[in-house]
Amino acid sequence: MLSDARRPDLAVEAVDLRRTFVTRTGILRRTRKDVEAVKGVSFHLERGELFGLLGPNGAGKTTTIKMLITLLIPSGGRASVLGYDVEQDVREVRRRIGYVFG
Ligand SMILES: Nc1ncnc2c1ncn2[C@@H]1O[C@H](COP(=O)(O)OP(=O)(O)OP(=O)(O)O)[C@@H](O)[C@H]1O
Ligand SMILES: [Mg+2]
Repeated sequence: MLSDARRPDLAVEAVDLRRTFVTRTGILRRTRKDVEAVKGVSFHLERGELFGLLGPNGAGKTTTIKMLITLLIPSGGRASVLGYDVEQDVREVRRRIGYVFG
């Protein structure tokens, strides 16, 4: 079970992680539209665990990964990698991860 307590022993921890994109369409009549790309995702990975994130197109997989690798700031919730918060400890997270684009 995930709780409010942080788990620095974990490789990855995501708690109620969220990301909303604000988009605008139209030139004369500008219309604002909020896209909820990630709607409160919670999961954790033990160190040494191999994990696959599966889901249909547009499910929010890339947005979730981008938040974990500090390329996107979460709109809500929190996440940490090896005990380092992806928002507060950006440098520490980046020093410890690798990422290969698909
Ligand atoms: N920069 C952005 N601006 C606006 N909307 C976005 C942006 N990035 C992603 N989205 C929207 O957020 C939702 C989730 O997109 P995301 O790319 O995370 O999905 P995905 O699971 O990686 O999909 P795919 O399997 O096609 O790679 C989609 O509705 C997408 O259109
Ligand atoms: Mg993707």
